[in-house]
Amino acid sequence: MSLDNAVAIVTGGAQGIGFAAAQRLGERGARLVVADRSGAEAAARALRESGFDAIAVDVDVSQPEQVAAMAQRAEAHFGRIDVLVNNAGIYSSLKPTPFEQLTMQDWRQVLDVNVIGVFLACQAVLPAFKRAGGGRIVNISSGVAFKGNPWMAHYVASKGAVISLTRALATELGAHQVLVNSVAPGFTLSDGVHANPTLVEGVKGPSLRGRVLARDMVPADLVGAIEFFAGAQAAFITGQTLVVDGGAYF
Ligand code: NAI
Repeated sequence: MSLDNAVAIVTGGAQGIGFAAAQRLGERGARLVVADRSGAEAAARALRESGFDAIAVDVDVSQPEQVAAMAQRAEAHFGRIDVLVNNAGIYSSLKPTPFEQLTMQDWRQVLDVNVIGVFLACQAVLPAFKRAGGGRIVNISSGVAFKGNPWMAHYVASKGAVISLTRALATELGAHQVLVNSVAPGFTLSDGVHANPTLVEGVKGPSLRGRVLARDMVPADLVGAIEFFAGAQAAFITGQTLVVDGGAYF
């Protein structure tokens, strides 16, 4: 599958990793649906000003009706859907919390967006994928799912679930030529992270020291992996998770 004229939905595409992914897919010829709970229109406008074909959809990915409407709007506008990048997630706004103090509300808030949101979006695009003869799902998980991370048990567990969901869907949807893979980023200086000085101060130093490629990681470092899973080079790859973290596991 070439990305020329492919229709790609990027959830959480208004900023950070999602916006960088949308830009890259646009550069490869994809038509773009920026789906976000805030800032989607401004991001889509910026993409159009850069010469890409892009529309905005306001959506909270944890809300079933809104996610169904997102898929309907994308298919109604562009006639098909080929790629779904499940990038919307709660991370940078989380207050690191000792495990014993995490509440049900903390857990539900994270799981609703990071896991249920992925489930809902995958289910919503599936009919369009089938009509198009196949599709690609790229889930954004996290390196912490392998490594663990203190004071973020709910977030770590949510990203582990994304990796397992990737596996499960790959086995189930392959029959429909729907390939499902995941990209697991290391600590990335995204817009959301920049907006949280405590996170930058607390995590930047340790993450840099634990990285073979000793520089800050930015959203642009991830777009190659996302593009890869969305494109022709990955036509026989499904169920995989690619860790992109500058070598933080050696
Ligand atoms: P960010 O905070 O810069 O951007 C996230 C975007 O998702 C925002 O535009 C926000 O409005 C949107 N969003 C959040 N909740 C939403 C919802 N319920 N419905 C629709 N849109 C929603 O985030 P960043 O850092 O670019 O992260 C993107 C993804 O990458 C997330 O899934 C995050 O967990 C994951 N990730 C980030 C890492 C990092 O260090 N920045 C590391 C590993 C994974």
